[in-house]
Amino acid sequence: MSERSQTETLPVLVLAGGTVLDATGQRRADVLVRDGRVVEVAPTIDPPAGATVLDAGGALVGPGFVDLHAHLREPGGEEAETVETGARAGALGGYTALVAMPNTFPPIDSVEMVRAVRHLARGACTEVAVAATITEGRRGERLAPLAELAAAGVRVVTDDGAGVADAQLARRAFEYAAPFGLVVAEHCEDPALAAGGVAHEGEWSSLLGLAGIPAEAEEVMLARDLALAGRSGARFHALHVSTAGSLALLREARRRGVAVTAEVTPHHLALTDAAIAGFDPVYRVNPPLRPEADRRALVAAVAAGEVDAVATDHAPHARHAKEAPFAEAPPGMIGLETAFGVARGALAELPLDVLWGLLSWKPAAIAGLEARHGGPVAPGRPANLCVVDPEARWRVDPAAGASRSANTPYAGWELVGRARHTVLAGEVVVRDGEAQR
Ligand code: DOR
Repeated sequence: MSERSQTETLPVLVLAGGTVLDATGQRRADVLVRDGRVVEVAPTIDPPAGATVLDAGGALVGPGFVDLHAHLREPGGEEAETVETGARAGALGGYTALVAMPNTFPPIDSVEMVRAVRHLARGACTEVAVAATITEGRRGERLAPLAELAAAGVRVVTDDGAGVADAQLARRAFEYAAPFGLVVAEHCEDPALAAGGVAHEGEWSSLLGLAGIPAEAEEVMLARDLALAGRSGARFHALHVSTAGSLALLREARRRGVAVTAEVTPHHLALTDAAIAGFDPVYRVNPPLRPEADRRALVAAVAAGEVDAVATDHAPHARHAKEAPFAEAPPGMIGLETAFGVARGALAELPLDVLWGLLSWKPAAIAGLEARHGGPVAPGRPANLCVVDPEARWRVDPAAGASRSANTPYAGWELVGRARHTVLAGEVVVRDGEAQR
């Protein structure tokens, strides 16, 4: 959030010449921002004296993106990323809010830890909503203090990186979380079925002699959690859904009335397990890249409105850690700066306003950030906005990014669609593709 003191005045901005896009539709309009809020949306606005004019010509002006799944690595993993650098990468990708994952060292499992990470986020280029663990120390043995965490404003709890293996504990997590309105976000992966696996169990893992993670590792825990969550009335969010079988389970659970939301990642929409053929550890990720049939099922599910959010699972890893044999490298890939372009490419048939919703207002609602993020571009609303040129062609250069890590599978790819400007609480944090802080 902004570090400006109350007495300092915020800039007056005009976002000029663009098409405004939000959950209410699209229209040609300029946007006037003053004191951190949108004050006017009109076909033409004469910039007041002293106003900063941001060129939105040929571009879309909408609510900033909200990422439900960003590993910012602080504390303990600062070599790979910090809250500051991860948030800057997010702003360059058009994000105004990130949900920071709690699988840090130590894990974020207490109100004190949540406050410490919030403190690190002061002055960052995006708002950072800190998620906390479901279990103490992320050990999967005892519940973290969910009531206290909820009282401190935590909305999302997750042991991401792993699921809660013990079904009784998972059941209690859903039951305890329900009255506090916490979202239990599960990384669905049965540890016994996944044990030792480094790639999707299938043709490619067999050919390459890599230990496999079967689709069922995800589906077994997802089915279990859908049963448990359904009984408890808790909000259940399925992280990085990656198989056709998982999509069928979600469909069936929704028919039964289970309150579940689900995200997919840009990389599971864009890549398949064939990418691991060269043993390049940049393609090692959890859940693993899946076969083409699963990838197509994810794309179809997005088109059918069965997916609630596109979330990055931005997972930075230091160069020396990733420069290891495939089976020894840590899983994960970065994705904040490339998310829009990669998702747009993989979902070429999807109308842009639907994609925007999956990147902005839908995840904002899941994360409980809808008062500030994802809302319509309308007078009185907080000015958390991004301006995206949907036709901008650019080549991904990992060395040029703001992330401290460069483990992107898209190096050298030409992407179509890029954030041009990002406005956080009325201040310009990215201008013409350059971070301003
Ligand atoms: O690939 C992954 N990397 N998947 C996860 O669930 C965790 C993440 C990480 O923290 O690196």
